[in-house]
Amino acid sequence: MANRVSPGRKPGPTADGTGPERTPIIPSHEFSGVVAAAGAGVKSPAEGEAVYGLIPFTRDGAAAEYVALPAAVLAAKPATVDHDHAAALPLAALSAWQALVDHADLQAGQHVLVQGGAGGVGIFVVQFAAGLGARVSATAAADLEFVNGLGAEQVIDYAHDRFEDHVRDVDVVVDLVGGATQSRSWSVLKPGGVLVTLVTPPDQQEAARHGVRGVYLIVEPNQNALRSIAEFVDNGRLRPVLDRVLPLTETRSGYEALETAKRRGKIVIHVAD
Ligand SMILES: NC(=O)c1ccc[n+]([C@@H]2O[C@H](COP(=O)([O-])OP(=O)(O)OC[C@H]3O[C@@H](n4cnc5c(N)ncnc54)[C@H](OP(=O)(O)O)[C@@H]3O)[C@@H](O)[C@H]2O)c1
Repeated sequence: MANRVSPGRKPGPTADGTGPERTPIIPSHEFSGVVAAAGAGVKSPAEGEAVYGLIPFTRDGAAAEYVALPAAVLAAKPATVDHDHAAALPLAALSAWQALVDHADLQAGQHVLVQGGAGGVGIFVVQFAAGLGARVSATAAADLEFVNGLGAEQVIDYAHDRFEDHVRDVDVVVDLVGGATQSRSWSVLKPGGVLVTLVTPPDQQEAARHGVRGVYLIVEPNQNALRSIAEFVDNGRLRPVLDRVLPLTETRSGYEALETAKRRGKIVIHVAD
């Protein structure tokens, strides 16, 4: 499969989050590309189809001209965006979808607080929550207007304000920051609410003390969710945000930028045409 990939951070079995505990490895587990060949017995997708997906973290990634992967993790690429933009979706958009839909069971009219709304995952959490009819508050620093434009009614500048002074009785907190931000978030939930975090397992005693649920999520490949995400994109309700697109030869600098540079959105590796 010829592809474009995103070197987004990922959870994984290794401490540095770069992949399986062996070397060499091929990094980058989300991608968009064209099926070069289908294995025996695979009815769908067929050769030539444009697909996108998240590769299981136990396998090599997609920063290469071709990648072999199970058909069951693939879905048709959103038709209205190019491969560079589609490659920016799978890991972060699946994380957001699984947080809001699978774990929080978000309902229209509920109030969601997104901790880290301007980040790679937060961009999608804000858009999905707004698209699903929720009232969205988010924390961010330099990107307040940008997060507002994604659908957040209220954007709290975490560098200058305490979110506790601005939100309360929240149904769902999605925590993309962890640490003190996570532990301070219990107090803004209403009884029966839920904190879903992608960063570190939450303190279950604190959850019980506040009468709420605390859930730690590790994103998983999911074909049906990818189909829903593609629909959101094609209906104009979800847009991937690209910070920059780099050629495969600059993959290393893409990963370095994840650690060092101020970014807005995803860094995508354009592997081949
Ligand atoms: N468990 C999983 O399956 C899974 C999947 C994906 C990601 N993750 C994890 O989820 C986290 C978020 O990922 P990401 O890709 O969205 O990271 P990211 O792009 O670095 O975004 C993090 C965002 O949080 C903001 N932030 C930093 N401190 C904050 C604070 N005190 N209050 C509010 N916002 C704050 C940052 O803003 P500034 O730029 O202003 O610092 C940035 O916009 C990471 O820890 C990542 O490893 C886990």
